[in-house]
Amino acid sequence: MAFLAQLIMFFCLTPAIICQVTEFMSIDCGGTRNYTDPNTGLTWISDNGMIGLGKSVEVDDSGGTVQQYQRRRDFLIDLKKNCYSLQTQERRRYLVRATFLYGNSISDGTLPKFQLYLDATKWATVTVQDPLRVLTKEMIIRATSQSIDVCLCCATTGSPFISTLELRPLNLSMYATEYEDDFYLRVTSRVNFGALSKDAIRYPDDPYDRIWESDLDKRQNFLVGVAPGTDRINTTKYVNTNMKEFPPVKVMQTGVVGTRGKLSYRLNLEDFPAYARAYAFFAEIEDLKSNETRKFRIEEPRTEYSDAVVNIAENANGSYTLYEPSYINVTLDFLLSFSFVKTEDSTRGPLLNGIEISKYVQIAAKTASEDVSALIAFRAMASEGTDEGDPCIPTQWTWVTCSSDVPPRITKISLSGRNMKGEIPEELKNMDQLIELWLDGNSLYGTIPDMSKQVNLKILHLENNELNGSIPASLGSLLNLQELCVQNNSLSGEIPPPLLSKKIIFHYEGNDHLGRGKSKGHYRLILWASITVLTTLFLLFLGSTILLRRFRRSKSFKIPNDSIHTSSKPSTHYLIARGGPLMDDGVACYIPIPEIEEATKNFSKKIGKGSFGPVYYGKMIDGKEIAVKVMADSSTHNTKQFMTEVALLSRIHHRNLVPLVGYCEEEYQRMLVYEYMHNGTLRDHINDTFNQKNLDWLARLRIAEDAAKGLEYLHTGCNPSIIHRDVKTSNILLDINMRAKVSDFGLSRLAEEDLTHVSSVARGTVGYLDPEYYANQQLTEKSDIYSFGVVLLELISGRKPVSPEEYGADWSIVHWARSLVRKGDVISIVDPRIIASVKMESIWRIAEVAIQCVEQHGHSRPRMQDIILALQEAIKIEKGTDKIASAGSSRGPSSRKTLLTSFLDIESPDISHGSLTPSAR
Ligand SMILES: *[C@@H]1O[C@H](CO)[C@@H](O)[C@H](O)[C@H]1NC(C)=O
Ligand SMILES: *[C@@H]1O[C@H](CO)[C@@H](O)[C@H](O)[C@H]1NC(C)=O
Ligand SMILES: *[C@@H]1O[C@H](CO)[C@@H](O)[C@H](O)[C@H]1NC(C)=O
Ligand SMILES: *[C@@H]1O[C@H](CO)[C@@H](O)[C@H](O)[C@H]1NC(C)=O
Ligand SMILES: *[C@@H]1O[C@H](CO)[C@@H](O)[C@H](O)[C@H]1NC(C)=O
Ligand SMILES: *[C@@H]1O[C@H](CO)[C@@H](O)[C@H](O)[C@H]1NC(C)=O
Ligand SMILES: *[C@@H]1O[C@H](CO)[C@@H](O)[C@H](O)[C@H]1NC(C)=O
Repeated sequence: MAFLAQLIMFFCLTPAIICQVTEFMSIDCGGTRNYTDPNTGLTWISDNGMIGLGKSVEVDDSGGTVQQYQRRRDFLIDLKKNCYSLQTQERRRYLVRATFLYGNSISDGTLPKFQLYLDATKWATVTVQDPLRVLTKEMIIRATSQSIDVCLCCATTGSPFISTLELRPLNLSMYATEYEDDFYLRVTSRVNFGALSKDAIRYPDDPYDRIWESDLDKRQNFLVGVAPGTDRINTTKYVNTNMKEFPPVKVMQTGVVGTRGKLSYRLNLEDFPAYARAYAFFAEIEDLKSNETRKFRIEEPRTEYSDAVVNIAENANGSYTLYEPSYINVTLDFLLSFSFVKTEDSTRGPLLNGIEISKYVQIAAKTASEDVSALIAFRAMASEGTDEGDPCIPTQWTWVTCSSDVPPRITKISLSGRNMKGEIPEELKNMDQLIELWLDGNSLYGTIPDMSKQVNLKILHLENNELNGSIPASLGSLLNLQELCVQNNSLSGEIPPPLLSKKIIFHYEGNDHLGRGKSKGHYRLILWASITVLTTLFLLFLGSTILLRRFRRSKSFKIPNDSIHTSSKPSTHYLIARGGPLMDDGVACYIPIPEIEEATKNFSKKIGKGSFGPVYYGKMIDGKEIAVKVMADSSTHNTKQFMTEVALLSRIHHRNLVPLVGYCEEEYQRMLVYEYMHNGTLRDHINDTFNQKNLDWLARLRIAEDAAKGLEYLHTGCNPSIIHRDVKTSNILLDINMRAKVSDFGLSRLAEEDLTHVSSVARGTVGYLDPEYYANQQLTEKSDIYSFGVVLLELISGRKPVSPEEYGADWSIVHWARSLVRKGDVISIVDPRIIASVKMESIWRIAEVAIQCVEQHGHSRPRMQDIILALQEAIKIEKGTDKIASAGSSRGPSSRKTLLTSFLDIESPDISHGSLTPSAR
């Protein structure tokens, strides 16, 4: 009874639902039946019968979630893609949403990672990190045809799966942009500020069923860096939202206000930097007195509108009315900081109700439609129901070959012996890029279609069918035709004469009524042609014999020269030839795997994990200690590539680079053998996990100088110059004398080759990654400089590069140190363990250069040579050999003011005697 009452209440209160529901498409993937969700009134349908493949899997521990997450659909790990086809209305805009909840049923410990496509456009990489969290991917599209395909494929770990697929039509001009012919909008962030609970707002509160994440749900929206004095407000009054984007009233009824004059937030934008469409939703929902105003500016991100003053009630022409300013095309970084600050004459602080940020995703060209229609006809005949989606992208159908053109074209169809019955599809005639067509061994009947457009056709197999009619004359005019097989059909009529006269492979026997024609002229022609060909061949043969003899004679003089030349090249060959006992002459050589196994005692002592796999300790028979870097996932490495890289690496020698001793390349194993560094990584020493003894400032400067020299050699001493790409304290190793050597260089190139097809994310380590490189993927030496700047900041401060605890809202050492140094407060960034024994002047010198290194733009950063000079100066100051500087730092104002100190007009305080006298003026 209670349920019935609820149901009646539900339908009474929300009469609009009934008509809306019919337009929505909600698929419960893996679900076993159709049902209506009692919470939303939405009808969910099972994907049974919608998709041929995959299996329905029960989700363990779905945590009492709604029914659509109790089962998911898993697909096989193969080269195919698995697609759902959804009906659409051409030119209508839709919100397409796919969600993923894996649950706790991990059998082998690996969580799935795979690709999601919308037609031929890459939509997202689905990476399950938390199996108990629903992953949501949303795309806003304007349908280009009667249907769209949502495809899953290309798993790198686990197998692809999906929980729900939802299609929501949009109305009017919502989400219309001038770019919509070429770009989809991938929704990255949609936040309801001042939310009343952690629950997201969606249908029926939002009639379009957008999901508005609560700003309280930090796990979902990653909002951090909230300005102090941020208050949450709410109202029950109606808010008029009838503008362009129709945010739900419920979202507009709550908001946040900066009672201390500022609102600021920071959030992660997945897959950014990119061009974005960003909307802010404002409505005045506080009752202001007539002598009160609310005016503010957008302080961050800085754009051309930063100086415009927002006065919500005025802009919206009234309170409780939506104002929705937007950036239709703005470049945003992967970490978006935004802040609003009140103007001086405003009595109230800024207010915000909601935001939505979407990334523009370029629509990829689908396979040419003339090819697709023919393929669909073939697919129906061959009952190849398992090939879905676009025939070429992201993976090809099993029986077609595609060109790399944009849009892709079909170059080959292989449907031999597929039990096909019927006539060859009419649409075939439009496939004008076809090179090979294999339809032999089926039960095709009817006539051979006209193929005059297939000018590229080389190979045509139609034998062993039931084709009748004659061979079309157009086949005779195909200039590229090399192979034509039509035997064992019921063909009749006359063979087009050109086919007989051409030099092609041509089989036509077993066709009872097929004739060669009667014209004697043809025979004569053929005879003449044959004679000509034979004569030509004979002449060619004669000519080439003479040439060959001459060539041999001349070559016999060259051979000795050649061989000398070859062996002096550092080619792979050479390296292998040099294999054998290890030599200290710096040439990397081949070490057989049993030797490595023996040296490492079967890889028993793991000493670390590099960017490319585990590292093991070993000792060679001759007593040399080694570190063996085992390349994880070597199966994908191309041998030739690996060898070229080894050749390159073995040519690089510098005191401050960890020497490559040798390498090992066996079928499934690739290893690099380096000299063992006794004192571990710089990271260990700064973090103080290695030993109790602290590195003093001078030792840190020396290490930095060593590392800088190593990097400078890579940048300027090598040809081609090498960019390290992963400079960090754990890649700076310390030898027995505490001299620093840089490791892991050059390998990045190797890895890049492998990674490009997996992900296009910039390589490097969080915290050290150059934002400019991240933004435009243009790698230069200046990216290493940025990372080295972070290393310098670590050396000064003894802190980690990223840490939410240590740097609060900023979480990065760069922001933290930069703001302090710019304020002239360098003391606050100095490691407390060394502060008592350093000269502030030398700290200043390094802090200054470090801050330059982490400049936003590469061209403002110094070169490695400049950094070395700064380090050498600092070392002199610290040792007291730089008389002027040391005099300056201990007596009165410094005469050697650095750029930064003079800019800030600050003198370095002298704390070398333990007493701290700040002297900022
Ligand atoms: C679920 O609904 C769909 C669409 O209305 C229908 O095609 C399908 O047969 C239904 N499935 C079941 C199990 O009732
Ligand atoms: C809504 O605002 C009122 C004050 O206007 C406040 O007392 C109440 O706690 C707010 N409700 C929530 C859920 O934040
Ligand atoms: C969308 O538009 C149609 C007619 O244009 C209207 O009937 C429907 O109510 C609208 N839906 C919403 C959610 O506004
Ligand atoms: C606005 O006027 C009210 C009285 O109407 C007064 O109490 C208040 O202080 C004034 N506020 C400002 C900012 O002037
Ligand atoms: C603003 O609202 C007032 C009434 O509240 C109305 O008279 C006026 O035309 C509106 N102005 C604009 C530009 O819409
Ligand atoms: C956005 O602006 C940039 C630079 O002005 C332009 O290259 C780009 O095509 C624009 N649109 C999109 C959707 O990226
Ligand atoms: C070819 O065969 C079909 C039936 O298989 C028949 O209808 C048609 O008349 C035949 N054509 C010729 C030219 O023999």
